Amino acid sequence: PRKIIIDTDPGQDDAVAILLALASPEEIDVLGITAVAGNVPLELTAKNARIVCELAGKTHIPVYAGCDRPLKRPLVTAEHVHGKTGLDGPVLPDPQMALTDGHAVEFIIDTLRKNKPGTVTLCPLGPLTNIATAFQKAPDIIDRVPEIILMGGAYFEVGNITPTAEFNIYVDPEAADIVFKSGAPIIVMPLDVTHKALVTKQRNDAFRALDTKVGHAVAEMTDFFERFDKEKYGSEGAPLHDPCVTAYLIRPELFSGRHINVQIETQSELTMGMTVADWWGVTDHLPNALFIGDIDTDGFFDLLTERLARL
Ligand code: BDR
Ligand code: CA
Repeated sequence: PRKIIIDTDPGQDDAVAILLALASPEEIDVLGITAVAGNVPLELTAKNARIVCELAGKTHIPVYAGCDRPLKRPLVTAEHVHGKTGLDGPVLPDPQMALTDGHAVEFIIDTLRKNKPGTVTLCPLGPLTNIATAFQKAPDIIDRVPEIILMGGAYFEVGNITPTAEFNIYVDPEAADIVFKSGAPIIVMPLDVTHKALVTKQRNDAFRALDTKVGHAVAEMTDFFERFDKEKYGSEGAPLHDPCVTAYLIRPELFSGRHINVQIETQSELTMGMTVADWWGVTDHLPNALFIGDIDTDGFFDLLTERLARL
C-alpha cells in the first residue's frame, strides 16, 4: 500500500475522504492525519478528525493538530457550508481518542525524513498552511515527496468563496503559492472535477442502504452539506470534493486531466487565491501540476459505496 499523510480540515467531505482511505488498507497506509484550521477553527478540525477515526473504528491512527491560522492572514472559515461544528448532520459522540503529542508540521517533517525518499505521499484536503510551513522549515523534505495530491482551485468553475477563488486556496494563498512553486509533483482536484462528484438522491440512498453506522453517518453528512450547493448552484446534491483525492489513490484511471502550469494569485484583492491555470497552454510556462478535469462519476460512487461497506 501507498503511505500517505492526510492533511485536513474536516468538514463533511473531508470526513468521507478519510473514511474512504481508512477503508482501503490494501492500497492506502495512513501514517497519520494532520489537522489544519480551515472549514472551522483548528480545535474543531482536530476534534472532527478523531471523531471520524472513531467512526471508522481506527483509533490507532495518530492525529496531530497543526497550524491554527494562515501564514499571513486572519482565518476565514466556512460554517455557512459545514455548520457550526464543521461536521453538522449526524449526531456523533465526542472522541475518546487523544490527540498525539507534537505539532503536525513536525510530524510531516519527521515522517518524510525517516521514510525512504519517494515513499510518503501528501494528501492535503484543506488550506495548505501545514504543508507550506513544513516546506519552509525543512526544504530538504521537498525532494523526498513523490506526489502531493490535493483538493483545491478551479478553472472553468472559477470560485466558491469569491467569484474567482476556491476555498482551500483562498484561505491561505501564500501557503498555496509556496506549495505550487516547490517543484514537488502535484496533482490537483479542482472544483471542475469535484462539482461532477455529486451525491444524488439515489447515491445517498445507497449509503443509507448499507445500514451501518458509517453508511447512516455519511448519508446524514451529505444531506446536511448539500443545502449550500443546491441553493447556490442548483446542483443535484452535495459535491464530494475531498474524496476525489483518496479515490485517486485507489483508482487513478477514474480521472483524467492535463499537465499544465498553475500559479496562485497573492496580490490582487479582487482575485486573491485564484488558481491561474494555463489549461490551453497559451504561455510557455512549464507545467507544475496535473490538473484534473474529468471523473468517471458512476465509477467513483461505486468505489466509494463498496469501500464504505467494509467499515
Ligand atoms: C473545499 O473547501 C472545503 O469547504 C471542503 O472541505 C473542500 O476541501 C471545497 O472548496
Ligand atoms: Ca476540506
